[in-house]
Amino acid sequence: GAGLLASAAAVRSVIPALTRTSKVFSVGQPNDYPVNSFSLLPEHKVFILRDHEGVRAVSAVCTHLGCVLKRAENEFHCPCHGSRFDDTGQVLSGPAPSPLPWYKMDLSFDGQLQVDMTRRTSSRFVFKIMSP
Ligand code: FES
Repeated sequence: GAGLLASAAAVRSVIPALTRTSKVFSVGQPNDYPVNSFSLLPEHKVFILRDHEGVRAVSAVCTHLGCVLKRAENEFHCPCHGSRFDDTGQVLSGPAPSPLPWYKMDLSFDGQLQVDMTRRTSSRFVFKIMSP
């Protein structure tokens, strides 16, 4: 019994490391994102929002059935079944059942912005960028 528990714990300790590599990724330099922009990164299915305070990352995956959202008219819009989300990721109209998740951002040692999809945050989290 104890041996089985120990090996289950060992497996569990390996899984986050594997998951982490694919869910933490670089998205370029802060200045790649113009102030007051929403940039869709299709390869990662996230939007990077840049404003005068800094940057944020929000999922671009519709919480209904997973289509990639588009940015339109100050909201996020799902092309599949028409769900709409406001700037904070809250559902404006369905069928999407839940808001969009936000992810923590950080700066790597070589100055690259990183998105960490393993660490959820709120729409109020801003990774602050000093103006040059
Ligand atoms: Fe977005 Fe259905 S997948 S509304």
